[in-house]
Amino acid sequence: MLKKKIVLAYSGGLDTSVIVKWLQEKKFEVITFTADIGQGNEIIFAKNKAKKLNVSRIYIKNLKNEFIKNYIFPYLRSSSEYENFYLLGTALARPLIVKELMKISFYEKTNFVSHGATGKGNDQIRFELGFKYFNPKINIIAPWRIWEINTRDKLLNFCLKNNIKINKKTKKFSIDKNLFHNSYEGGDLENLFFEPNENMWENTVSNQISIDYPIYLSLTFKNGDLIKINNHCYNNETLLLKLNKIGSISGIGRIDIIENRFIGIKSRGCYETPGATIIMFARKHLEDLVLDKEIFYLKKTISLKYSSLIYNGFWWSPERIMLQNIIDYTQKYVNGIIKLKVYKGTINIVSRYSYNSLYNQKNSSFNQVSEKFSQIDSSGFININSLRLII
Ligand code: ARG
Repeated sequence: MLKKKIVLAYSGGLDTSVIVKWLQEKKFEVITFTADIGQGNEIIFAKNKAKKLNVSRIYIKNLKNEFIKNYIFPYLRSSSEYENFYLLGTALARPLIVKELMKISFYEKTNFVSHGATGKGNDQIRFELGFKYFNPKINIIAPWRIWEINTRDKLLNFCLKNNIKINKKTKKFSIDKNLFHNSYEGGDLENLFFEPNENMWENTVSNQISIDYPIYLSLTFKNGDLIKINNHCYNNETLLLKLNKIGSISGIGRIDIIENRFIGIKSRGCYETPGATIIMFARKHLEDLVLDKEIFYLKKTISLKYSSLIYNGFWWSPERIMLQNIIDYTQKYVNGIIKLKVYKGTINIVSRYSYNSLYNQKNSSFNQVSEKFSQIDSSGFININSLRLII
């Protein structure tokens, strides 16, 4: 019998390594795809592991620049978190992985794809909405939803039996890493009283040992995107890596949160997003300076929807693209330079400058007379606005 080809989104981690074996047992010819989105050494481990697992082809693609240019930067333009805190580092990477994986499935002429996301989380939805968007006829094998290995402990046992090596930390948490963030979930974190040990965090140091002097930074934005640090141009990857480094040694961008998953379960996660936390902070200050008041409020309203669309896996939906267009339109004003002071887990603004600035000292000053309006007019403004309250 001819084996069916299947393309697996392969991280080299625990779950997807077990899935390779399991799919092979089910008589699939397994092809792995690993997206290099800045997870460092893990790429080499993934490659070696895939070789050991005897997969029939290994695809690895460097997508770092595309990740920043077409996913991270467009999202940052929204200046919005998912719910209160989350900067969407995992949710943003999934649509890109999906797009590239689907290219491979077309190239390999197969209608079978697989991923390692569980049946409880968001990633299954993100993968599969994307798969179906690119190929409505796709057959998706999501082992976590159908196999007998339904807990993490059973998974670890399967590895022991099948000689699949795993690193120590993978045993403790479910980790997702890329250029933008690291996320940690599961394990001891499931207990809300558990305070993570310092050695869980890989991307940032704690404030106790973060460097002992403030770092001054100047960030230049053009049409909403970061283009310079301290007046030097760098490519996107270097921009982000530099800020990750600065954020990391200054203890910036750690969060420990409860979030609502799409399917309605609350979960706890820890995230570290050093560089993007700095960019987000600077961008927000720049937008405060340059955006027209009504544009600002409209943008803020739609951004709540926009970030939940991304979280829920609707990156490729028409409504996400529509909102993106609106957001991008507002960014033509977002040009300028924000100077920051980064120190022991805090970011402070030092100064802001923009040739699109709508700030006018005469208008807001306590000491100067505005040329644009007279204070007498404010009486009428208040009279009319208080009418409803009086009536
Ligand atoms: N809770 C986050 C999200 O839904 C992070 C998910 C991390 N994924 C993982 N496989 N560990 O975006």
